Amino acid sequence: MELLIDGTMTEFEIRHKDLMGRIGKLRTPHGYIETPTIMPVINPNLNSIGAEEMKKYGAEILIANAYIIYRKEESREAAIKKGIHAFLGFEMPIMTDSGSYQLYEYKDVEVSNREIVEFQQRIGSDICVPLDIPTPPNVKRERAKDDLEETLRRMQEARSIIQTNLLTGVVQGSTFLDLRGECAQRVSEIGFEVYAIGGVVPLLESYTFDKLVDIIVASKMNLPLNAPVHLFGVGHPMIFPLAVALGCDLFDSAAYALYAKGKRYITSDGTRKVEELCYLPCSCPVCSSYSVKEIKENEDLLAAHNLWVTFEEMRTVKQSIVERSLWELCERRCRAYPALLNALKQMTKYSALIEKYDPVTKHPFFYLDESSAHRPEVLRYSYRLNRFTLSGNVLITTYPLSQGTNATERGRFDHLFFVKPPFGPYPVGLEESYPVGQSEIPTAVDNDAKTIALQNVLKLLELNRHVKFVFLYDRSWEGHPLIEEIRRYAEVRKEG
Ligand code: GUN
Ligand code: ZN
Repeated sequence: MELLIDGTMTEFEIRHKDLMGRIGKLRTPHGYIETPTIMPVINPNLNSIGAEEMKKYGAEILIANAYIIYRKEESREAAIKKGIHAFLGFEMPIMTDSGSYQLYEYKDVEVSNREIVEFQQRIGSDICVPLDIPTPPNVKRERAKDDLEETLRRMQEARSIIQTNLLTGVVQGSTFLDLRGECAQRVSEIGFEVYAIGGVVPLLESYTFDKLVDIIVASKMNLPLNAPVHLFGVGHPMIFPLAVALGCDLFDSAAYALYAKGKRYITSDGTRKVEELCYLPCSCPVCSSYSVKEIKENEDLLAAHNLWVTFEEMRTVKQSIVERSLWELCERRCRAYPALLNALKQMTKYSALIEKYDPVTKHPFFYLDESSAHRPEVLRYSYRLNRFTLSGNVLITTYPLSQGTNATERGRFDHLFFVKPPFGPYPVGLEESYPVGQSEIPTAVDNDAKTIALQNVLKLLELNRHVKFVFLYDRSWEGHPLIEEIRRYAEVRKEG
């Protein structure tokens, strides 16, 4: 537990951060879990992988559907009698969902919010969920607003019932970003231990990942930073790096089982029809012990593989948070599909926001493609150009230290700046500092990087109008339109 400045306790302690992602520790009545993590969905009627067995894959917490248990008298009575942990045979933390997803799929459920919330409390769920209304994307605004008001009413009611277990406040609002923001704010005012972003499953099914980015950001901006955020119904690993980078901490996966049912083999960069596999691109315990043929014929083996790779990807994401290389992981993973690349581009639109949360020093900056030019670190560098106070004569050169104008000529200047794309001008003193001095930039750098570098040169010139600048550039910069702009403030020379 973390003690806040005002003396209150919080259930969630943040250990490491990168971008808006974090590694955190959440306290539940059945012990701590480390986030980000994935909660496998356990359906006692369907599952081939038992609750206890889930630990071996790396599960620290499971999620079950309280409504499915409640609906049948037999399971309802058994769960009340034994408690959810003994009922499922799992002594670690268990979250329960409320039946909202069934509400979305079948338009109706035979239970009230009060009943299902009280049931979750009675069976001792560690994290309970009210019966929120998942509004689909792109509905009429009035519908989204009406659903949202009802969802808020239900959350208020749930809050008055649940005091000892953890309770989840769910953000709805369809694809209206202002409604998402409003809902997140009002949910935060009620106050929950866990927050969730709901109603996004159809966006994943249609690969509308850029809209998902918008919704996560609009919600996150209005939720408390010191509470975990669950992204409901998201269990495919290809979206984990991006969702975690934007501040999501919990995920639930029925995907491993549903995809297996559909004969689909999950990988960290997408899904394959198992029928089309001639080789197994994986070394999990299943893929290293069984043949392609055996996996094709056995849905349980396929589900097990799907679960292994799901947890593997989450560990990769966590390691990249510790190393502070999550942006690079997003860049690599978002190369898998054009729709993911859209989402990455969408994330770069929020760089100014991410910059506020992003740690100042990191793993070396790897420039991997033009989206790297729009990283939060590059933006931060540009914000900080006003920290240079210059006077007299200043040389800005695209040549490295050992080339170009000779040392004696350089000695005539009061300040010397080199130019490194995408950052732009930097003094020798920053040669060792993150990010400019600790960045690996390909020699064949793209135009976005050069443009931003020259924009930053211009910014430095504009911030220091009283200074006499000389700008020296080599042939690799020739013809860039911003050189003409620079000419308005500096003596410009091309060498070599
Ligand atoms: N599972 C998938 N989406 C949702 C949602 O929006 N709300 C709840 N409670 N469960 C979900
Ligand atoms: Zn495998």
